Amino acid sequence: MSQLLHDEQQQGNTQQTSCSAPSSISLKELSLELSGTKILKNVSFDLSSAGINCLVGPSGAGKSSLLRCLTLLYDNWQGKITMDGIAIQSWPKGADALRRHIGLIAQKPSIFPTSIYQNVIFGLSRQERKQDQQKWVEACLRKAALWDEVCNRLFDPASTLSIGQQQRLCIARVIALNPNVLLLDEPTSSLDPRSKQLIEASLYDLAKNIPVLCVTHDLEQAQRLQGQMIFMCDGKLIETAPTNDFFQSPKRLETREFLRWSVCNCDE
Ligand SMILES: Nc1ncnc2c1ncn2[C@@H]1O[C@H](COP(=O)(O)OP(=O)(O)O)[C@@H](O)[C@H]1O
Ligand SMILES: [Mg+2]
Repeated sequence: MSQLLHDEQQQGNTQQTSCSAPSSISLKELSLELSGTKILKNVSFDLSSAGINCLVGPSGAGKSSLLRCLTLLYDNWQGKITMDGIAIQSWPKGADALRRHIGLIAQKPSIFPTSIYQNVIFGLSRQERKQDQQKWVEACLRKAALWDEVCNRLFDPASTLSIGQQQRLCIARVIALNPNVLLLDEPTSSLDPRSKQLIEASLYDLAKNIPVLCVTHDLEQAQRLQGQMIFMCDGKLIETAPTNDFFQSPKRLETREFLRWSVCNCDE
């Protein structure tokens, strides 16, 4: 039995204090068409069972759409996406169960109109909430690099947090579900430098145990995070490479142009 399916069966019986067993993800010839336009064109790459992957590319390259395919928010794509060898479309308990394993953090933080504490436990089932709940909330807030700033005001409305803190709260809420994979769509694009730094530290730590796929426009951030670079343009995968190779010796002309100008003319 795969580790994931085993975890699925154990869910609700145990409350772990670290993220779930790592998973590997594989995309093979992923294509997506929306309103008659090809948005993704035969995109293939793998995410290994831990580590940071930065997905970069010009606006409109299809990065957000790809994250939506990975979480089955779009399900009309062609190709194959597997997690630990299991096709995600046939995930045992459906798309909602899959989304517990593949956490998605959006660009703008979406907090619920309740307390900081309640936001962290929002996605947990009633059974999960009974077990060591306060310790779990603390562990998740620590992993999201927010604990020190909120430990004395856990029951204040989450809306009283700064935007940077709200984004970290969203990360804590996703971590609370013990995801096997974490996806982030430009998570720090509108944040203050301190929150950006704390989120990067948090991602770096989380990526020791699970694969993290972070869409970013910030090439300096990608260099700081290290790991694997994935460069897309016009719905196509152009190049994947370890971070240092990508920046120091890019193989493709399109990559060199993108690194120099932040644009790519591959569709011309
Ligand atoms: N629902 C939709 N219908 C038609 N086209 C869409 C839809 N959503 C996104 N697109 C188009 O798909 C392309 C890729 O969008 P997106 O995935 O948001 O790119 P990125 O995140 O890289 O900026 C863009 O040209 C965008 O206009
Ligand atoms: Mg986008």
